[in-house]
Amino acid sequence: MRVSRRALMLSAGTTALGTALPLRRSFAETEIKKYGLIAKPAVVNLTGDGHPDTAVWTYDGTVPGPEFRVRQGDPLRLVVSNNLGEDTTVHWHGIRLPNAMDGVPGLTQPPIRPGESFTYDFTPPDAGTFWYHPHADTLQQLGRGLAGALIVEERQSIAVDRELLWFIEDWRLDDDGRISPGFGNRMEAGMSGRVGNTVTVNGRVPDRASVKAGERVRLRIVNAALARIVSLRFEGHRPVVVAYDGQPCEPHVSEGGRLVLGPAMRADLIIDMDGKPGQSYRVIDDFYQDLAYKLVDLAYGPGKPIREHARDAPARLPTNPLPEPDLTTAERHDIALQGGMMGGIGMMSGGGMMGGMPMMGVMGDAVWTINGTSMTGDGQPNMPPLLTLRRGKSCVLLLRNETAWWHPMHLHGHSFRVTSRNGRSNPRREWRDTVLVPPRETVEVAFVANNPGNWMFHCHVTDHQMAGMMAVLGVA
Ligand code: C2O
Ligand code: CU
Repeated sequence: MRVSRRALMLSAGTTALGTALPLRRSFAETEIKKYGLIAKPAVVNLTGDGHPDTAVWTYDGTVPGPEFRVRQGDPLRLVVSNNLGEDTTVHWHGIRLPNAMDGVPGLTQPPIRPGESFTYDFTPPDAGTFWYHPHADTLQQLGRGLAGALIVEERQSIAVDRELLWFIEDWRLDDDGRISPGFGNRMEAGMSGRVGNTVTVNGRVPDRASVKAGERVRLRIVNAALARIVSLRFEGHRPVVVAYDGQPCEPHVSEGGRLVLGPAMRADLIIDMDGKPGQSYRVIDDFYQDLAYKLVDLAYGPGKPIREHARDAPARLPTNPLPEPDLTTAERHDIALQGGMMGGIGMMSGGGMMGGMPMMGVMGDAVWTINGTSMTGDGQPNMPPLLTLRRGKSCVLLLRNETAWWHPMHLHGHSFRVTSRNGRSNPRREWRDTVLVPPRETVEVAFVANNPGNWMFHCHVTDHQMAGMMAVLGVA
C-alpha cells in the first residue's frame, strides 16, 4: 500500500466532475491529509517463495508499514489504532513537530492501550526521508516489524527519471522462519545489540533491483534495523549523497564510495545508472568484518541507454527552514557515553575491572549510562531532564563515546549540524537527527533549541536504548 498525494488528488478530481476544478484543487491542497494506521499482528513472507512465512507485528498488515507521502508544509492527521496485545505509540522519527505529537509514552502522551487509538496531528516543516516506529517496548515492537517510511516531498525538487525507496530491516529468524525470541538478552545489550541474520529491503530478502541504462534515480535508503549498521558499496557506480536524515547536504560522493548508516539513519542518493545493458552490479554491505554479503544486484535491462550524454552533476536539494546555530554564543555541554562490555580487554568504562574478565553492571537493568545516569525500558517519565536548554539558544553537545561499541545517537524534535569529529572541524557540517559515534571517538553537534518540551535523547541501537543509553533533554 502506498498512500500518495497524487492518489488523493485523483480521487478528489473524480468527485469534482470538472466544474470549478481550480477552486476545488486549491481547497484540496490546504486540506488536512487524513490517514488511519492500525498496529496489528499478521503473517508475511520475508524470505521469498518456497520459504516459510513469518508471524510479525505490522502497521496495516504489511512489512514495512504503508509508505506515507505528503508535501512539505501540508498538515497531516494520522489516527493510530492499537490491535496489538500490549501498549504502543508511534514516533515520527526526524520530524520537527510539537512535543505532544512525538509519541513517547509517559513523556509526551499516555500509551495507546490495546483496542484504543490516538490521533497524531502535525505539519512537517522539512522535506525529506523520514520514518515512523513505536516508542513503547521498542526492542520487541520494532524487532517484530513495526516500522514504515514517511516521505515529505519538496515543493520543488530536482529532476530525476525515477525515485526508489529501500527500507532496510534486519531480522533474527530460525529455520522455520519464526522470529527468534530472546529480545533484551543482557549480554547482547552490552555489546552490539540484536544484530539479525536476515536483511530485507522493502519487506523481502532482495534479489535484484531492475534498472535502465542511462537513467538517473533518486534512491532513498532507510536503515530501520534494531542494531545492524550497514556500509553499502555500489560496484561500478558513484552514488552522490544529497541528503542525510532527510536534510539536504552539499552533493558529494561519500568517503571511499561507502555509505555508512547506523540504525535510524537515512540517506538520499542520486545514482546515474551508467552500467552496461544486460549486466548486473552488486551492492555489498561489508560493515562487519568477515560478514560481508551482497544486499542486492542492480540488474540492467537489455535496452539501449535512455540518454546519450552524461548528465550534469546533481543539484543541491532546496534547503529546509532550519535555524542556524551560533557557535560563538552557544552553551556547551559534555555528554559521556559509558558502559557495556569491553572487547577483549575486560574493563568496563564507568564500571570497573574484574579479574580481567568482561563485566557489566552499573545499576539495576542498566548496562549503559549517559553522564552517569541511565533510563531503561520505555524510560521513566518522572526522571528529571539531564539538561534543560534555554529555548531559542544555540547549543553544542560534545558526545564522547568512552565505550568499545558504536552508538547512533538520536535527538527528538530537532536536527543538528555535525560540526566536528575528534576535535577536528567537519567541513561538510551536515544536518542530521542521528549521528553515529564510533568507539572511543568524539562528535560535536550544534543546533538551536527552539522546540519547547521534554525530548528523548538516546542511542538507536535499540538494546542500548532499553538498557540505559537514554536521557531526556528539556527545552524551556
Ligand atoms: Cu527513532 Cu526515539 O527514536
Ligand atoms: Cu548504542
